[in-house]
Amino acid sequence: MDRRKFVKGMGAATATAFVLPRFSIASTKSPNEKINLACVGVGGIGSMTFNGIKGKQGTGEKDAGVVAVCDIDSKYSANNYKKFCQGVKMFTDYREMLDKMGKDIDAVCVSTPDHTHFKIAMDAMSLGKHVAVQKPLTHDIWQARELKKAKDYYKVKTQMMNQGHATSAIRMIKEWYDSGVTGPVREVHVMCGGPAWGNIYFKKPPEGIPLKKGKAPEHVAWDLWIGQAKYCDYNPILHPLAWRSFWDYGTGMLGDWFCHTGDAPVWCLDLKDPVSIELIEADCSFDRNVFIPNASVVKWTFPKTEKHPEVAMYWYDGGLKPKKLPHDWDKNRDLKGVGMLMIGDNHTIETGVRPNINPRMANTQFFNEFKKNLPPKSIPRARQDNLYLEWFDAIKGNIDECGSNFDYASQLTEVALLGSLAQRLGGKIEWDGKNMRSTNRPEAAQYVKETPRAGWEASVPKSWLERIFG
Ligand SMILES: NC(=O)c1ccc[n+]([C@@H]2O[C@H](COP(=O)([O-])OP(=O)(O)OC[C@H]3O[C@@H](n4cnc5c(N)ncnc54)[C@H](O)[C@@H]3O)[C@@H](O)[C@H]2O)c1
Repeated sequence: MDRRKFVKGMGAATATAFVLPRFSIASTKSPNEKINLACVGVGGIGSMTFNGIKGKQGTGEKDAGVVAVCDIDSKYSANNYKKFCQGVKMFTDYREMLDKMGKDIDAVCVSTPDHTHFKIAMDAMSLGKHVAVQKPLTHDIWQARELKKAKDYYKVKTQMMNQGHATSAIRMIKEWYDSGVTGPVREVHVMCGGPAWGNIYFKKPPEGIPLKKGKAPEHVAWDLWIGQAKYCDYNPILHPLAWRSFWDYGTGMLGDWFCHTGDAPVWCLDLKDPVSIELIEADCSFDRNVFIPNASVVKWTFPKTEKHPEVAMYWYDGGLKPKKLPHDWDKNRDLKGVGMLMIGDNHTIETGVRPNINPRMANTQFFNEFKKNLPPKSIPRARQDNLYLEWFDAIKGNIDECGSNFDYASQLTEVALLGSLAQRLGGKIEWDGKNMRSTNRPEAAQYVKETPRAGWEASVPKSWLERIFG
């Protein structure tokens, strides 16, 4: 593709935003107009997007239609392409897609591996496109904060695809918490059984690390798969799906699950800026700095705020679980080790691995009473509990914002990524959230803000002061 043309196009968009920072360059749509969508990442979880945008009985098809798609692997994406978007213009490089079809596109869905979310989303936003991005929002903490800034700067509607956040269940859980039923929450446990080694998502390299250098098959555009991340030669264990275990590309079990299982406590308690994150225990087969652990326990300490006392939050994977049961736990009930517990001084809220799986008060007898007089509905619901329809409603001005818009999505992602950082570095990380830095582990800086591969730097919105003084 003609990169110069693309970069020139991006420059124009940025310049428009610079001259007119208070006016949106995003396309606006009236309730009757159809939103033109582009989807980057067609195979794999791309199917979630294609199914999701349809809504119940195809109701979403009145709101939006796919006009362009992009995937770096013509073979792996072929099934979804045939099933969902046969005949739609297909690209290999999203930059070429934005360059050639940008004027016909209102909004972009990004369903690619974690390491490529940031630049694709930022490039689309800087052209005024609304964006929906898979979870976790980004691969590093700086990127999450930049996408949050870009949302306000470009005045576009944003949604992270942690689908549980669009369900009535999580909104109901927050109403329970807001009613005061739990009392002050001081301890949270987030448990996720995996990784299940050997399934399609989590594989150990048979040759160990470093990986063998291979040659990508014709149908895979390997350089585009790497994108802005650190270059390595093709190896079939990385693409598709099993990139998750390699820190350079994935974000491990926390990246895979925390935005689901940890969504309710982060939202209810407004958890952010922990003072420390600590790897309490871990079992690793390979270099911890390169490959995720088999099992681990991570602890975040969130300082007291107006909304909550000091909170200790724990993450468990690889089959580990809390050693002590909540004070109000049912007698003779096992703790499965997959799900979430928000332990209040009075009562505990419990969910399964997603907030919409079996939300309840942990004590059965109390829950049976509580159900008779649930706190009133106070939080608006997403149309059909569907994150895409909620996003379309925001784009059309029917609602102000989506539930998992990038203000919240970047907060949730940052908490998850701080956990991944502890798994990667080991030990205790003292964290200064305001200044986005570790005060005791200088080696964390390279992962908090990763250096993009040459030629893959994203143009990020700058404040007026930064523009004037550099
Ligand atoms: N919300 C959920 O429940 C859920 C579930 C699974 C995955 N995910 C997230 O979705 C994302 C994708 O995961 P996956 O399991 O589908 O991975 P995957 O490896 O199957 O990749 C998805 C698709 O993106 C394509 N792709 C990769 N790099 C690309 C690029 N630079 N440009 C265009 N296309 C590219 C791949 O060829 C593939 O077709 C991840 O961020 C993951 O965390 C979310």
